[in-house]
Amino acid sequence: MNILVLGSGGREHTFAWKIAQSEKCDSLFVAPGNSGTAEIATNLNISVTDFEGIKNAVITHHIDLVVVGPEDPLVQGIHDYFLADEDLKSISVIGPQKAAAELEGSKEFAKEFMKRHEIPTAAYSSFTKDNIEEGYQFLETLQPPYVLKADGLAAGKGVLIIQDLDEAKSELKNMLVDAKFGNASAKVVIEEFLDGIELSCFVLTDGKDYKILPTAKDYKRIGEGDTGLNTGGMGAVSPVPFASEEFLNKIEHRIVKPTVEGLKKDNLPYVGFIFIGLIKVGDDPKVIEYNVRMGDPETEVVLPRLKNDLVDIFEAMSKGTLSEIEIEIDNRAATTIMLVSGGYPEAYEKGKEIFGLDEVKDSIVFHAGAQSRDGKVVTSGGRVMAITSYGSNYEEAIKKSYQSINLLCFDKMYYRKDIGFDL
Ligand code: AMP
Ligand code: GLY
Repeated sequence: MNILVLGSGGREHTFAWKIAQSEKCDSLFVAPGNSGTAEIATNLNISVTDFEGIKNAVITHHIDLVVVGPEDPLVQGIHDYFLADEDLKSISVIGPQKAAAELEGSKEFAKEFMKRHEIPTAAYSSFTKDNIEEGYQFLETLQPPYVLKADGLAAGKGVLIIQDLDEAKSELKNMLVDAKFGNASAKVVIEEFLDGIELSCFVLTDGKDYKILPTAKDYKRIGEGDTGLNTGGMGAVSPVPFASEEFLNKIEHRIVKPTVEGLKKDNLPYVGFIFIGLIKVGDDPKVIEYNVRMGDPETEVVLPRLKNDLVDIFEAMSKGTLSEIEIEIDNRAATTIMLVSGGYPEAYEKGKEIFGLDEVKDSIVFHAGAQSRDGKVVTSGGRVMAITSYGSNYEEAIKKSYQSINLLCFDKMYYRKDIGFDL
């Protein structure tokens, strides 16, 4: 089988790494890919939202299966594009159709879905510039901190958590009237603040049945002790030590099951990953958000713990036979630490040579914002590499990742030295 992975981050390198281990995979392509995927697959210089370019590549390379990494092509309807095209409609696509991708594409859509299917989440109301006055009044009824969310995709930056009421009102105006996040904030969801510790749950579905992958927790802030600006994720741990059997049961019965059943009831076709962002409030899980893809860097700790052949799973998802698959998980813990360019998530320099890659033996190095140039590997993004290790527990795995990081360097390299600090 010939397989194409769309994306260029650490998540997609991890997908490629796992798919390359399958005997069912004949040729593997990644578009656009990075220096890591170049070592195990053929990179194609095509953007993930260039549907026509993707179509040409799929036909040229006789692709049978397309795995969509990031949300943008899904929210823009890549799966629907395949289904509507005579030449592409028989090709399997891992990722939901556009209507279901709205779970990530619109916060309001996701909140209405949860309300309809009685899935526990924060209380909310949504506003546009036409009823901004009601938005101010709603804020006055809440206790601080105030949670303001741009309805649409805002590259992970669209959520503001604000202590002061006047500031919250003024940010609401910035979002609705002054288009702080462009069209994404033409509508704003204001939510009740939930206090607790976060974790993520990853679900595979063929639209009928589901399988739950290991939980993971990521570290979103740039600074130690979870301080400073939000990033795409600075590290991750799997499994999540505080997610007991009982708590996982609550997640499955109160959240995963009603989500998959809700998709069916609402006639939202879904073959793909559901990434459920959760918060543990007291002893109960509540949903913070849905994503319609895997997390990054969570993928870098979840897939290394999956023992199954990933291509078998993808085939079953496409055929609607996921119920026949038994998921097997490695008992070891896995952790990953992100190396990032100094300055990220604000301005940073690119093109820095990365040294020491051949020295790392006890960890898996997943490339993210890195490219090959003249036989060297150089930085090309904010998040550069994820250093994943196994251990009998997360402490041991984290220690190994830090030992491996000591062998690596590039100019202005930065990473958090406290991943796992709160567990
Ligand atoms: P989201 O993009 O919806 O995942 O939100 C980004 C981050 O904002 C989450 O990872 C949480 O840390 C925080 N957050 C979002 N919604 C809430 C809420 N209702 N209560 C507390 N924190 C929240
Ligand atoms: N690490 C969070 C995300 O992928 O959205």
